[in-house]
Amino acid sequence: MVSRVIPVETFDLVIFGGTGDLARRKILPGLYRRFVAGQMPPEARVIGAARSEMDQKGYQDLIRDAIEEFIKEENRDPETLDAFLERLDYTAIDARGEGGWDNLAKMVRKDAVTAFYFSVGPGLFGDIATRLHDHKIATPESRIVVEKPFGRDLESAKELNGVLAASFDESQIYRIDHYLGKETVQNLMAVRFGNVLFEPLWNAQYVDHVQITVSETVSVGGRGGYYDKSGAMRDMIQNHLMQLLCLTAMEPPSKFDPDAVRDEKLKVIRALDPVPADNIVRGQYGADEDGPSYIEDSENPDSRTESFIALKVDISNWRWKGTPFYLRTGKRMKARMSEIVVHFKETPHSIFDEDAGSHSNILSIRLQPDEGMDLRVTIKEPGPGGMRLIDVPLDMTFADALGPEGADVTDAYERLIMDVIRGNQTLFMRGDEVEAAWAWTDPIIEGWQKRGDKPVQYEPGSSGPDDALMLLHRDGRRWRELRA
Ligand code: BG6
Repeated sequence: MVSRVIPVETFDLVIFGGTGDLARRKILPGLYRRFVAGQMPPEARVIGAARSEMDQKGYQDLIRDAIEEFIKEENRDPETLDAFLERLDYTAIDARGEGGWDNLAKMVRKDAVTAFYFSVGPGLFGDIATRLHDHKIATPESRIVVEKPFGRDLESAKELNGVLAASFDESQIYRIDHYLGKETVQNLMAVRFGNVLFEPLWNAQYVDHVQITVSETVSVGGRGGYYDKSGAMRDMIQNHLMQLLCLTAMEPPSKFDPDAVRDEKLKVIRALDPVPADNIVRGQYGADEDGPSYIEDSENPDSRTESFIALKVDISNWRWKGTPFYLRTGKRMKARMSEIVVHFKETPHSIFDEDAGSHSNILSIRLQPDEGMDLRVTIKEPGPGGMRLIDVPLDMTFADALGPEGADVTDAYERLIMDVIRGNQTLFMRGDEVEAAWAWTDPIIEGWQKRGDKPVQYEPGSSGPDDALMLLHRDGRRWRELRA
């Protein structure tokens, strides 16, 4: 199977924070891979902009090191790397002052697609947006790309939206949630809306419950300062898990077009019920021989920030009333595993003996690792000895079904950057969506602040606190096991 490379117009991509961690780890390696795939037109250029004084050669050397660090040797070769680095330029810029802006204005072409990636803290969004506008570097066709965290509550998100709206139209603003760029996330839409099989069953009448898990083995080590002010609710639930929930729960949009899709997601967020304290479990990992505790990592002995959270979420609309969505995410867990699992109801009546057991279909959509889908169906256990039922998987691991090319899934960032150049906002969050997500999140956080709730401790390398297991047990359900 040969992957299709859709050509894009020539572009100038300016990366503010061009020497930073995200640029080195994700953005530039992603662009390199697109270059190797033949998707960067001959004249396309990338301009790094940051505070440090550096010349073009210095920047190219910095990015060479980054690509050698973050792209496996078998996926790069010195010649293509040199050719890619030729496309890079650099300018020092003072985001809060006037230094460097005239120079940038000279560097950026007016007859190419221009995109400006704000790979900087949100505190600089306003300064950069205003200067791009005032120095006439951006045109009405230019695009800006902003990273999460998009605010830390509704008020700050509104403020950021206001700051960007002063210089750019919503159609120019690309708010990244890199989970939307993951291959399987888009496959969720293909499966739901490309098959007649699932849609009639995709509702409270046939779905017992949905589980969404994003479990990580890493700690917050090194990011403790940021993380302690954020926690799993702000860092993961408000954005990544919320987006997964929306794509699972939304109504079919009339077409696969940015606003049609985002309108449907927004309706889901607005239909989420407030979450009572009983339906939330928060945890902090303890220490073991592999690493320090959350408290040590955050360097805050009094920290009440959660490194794990599980929630039972109800959606008040016709499709989902009565079918809970259980969400959980955490650091230093037993396995790295992200999946959406739809548990269908049992058959209304069993024609088989009691010892045939009770069975139900389960559709799991694995985001990582081993991207793929698996539908468990009930069959008769082969052989003599009466009618005994077993569940077997109808498995579609992309690597098996599509060959090595299928397994080589494009990194989320590459796909999203190319979507920016193409001017396709479908996989980006709209301002009202982000605000609605905060409007749902804020009262939950305020609730535990008011009550002075403390997260419970969980063992690192486990499935999180026991209370999280109870959250499902009391409803007669069980979490799927975390496995690598
Ligand atoms: C980021 C969070 O947005 O997503 C991190 O800030 C988290 O805390 C990361 O580790 C997870 O992304 P992925 O793609 O590795 O699942």
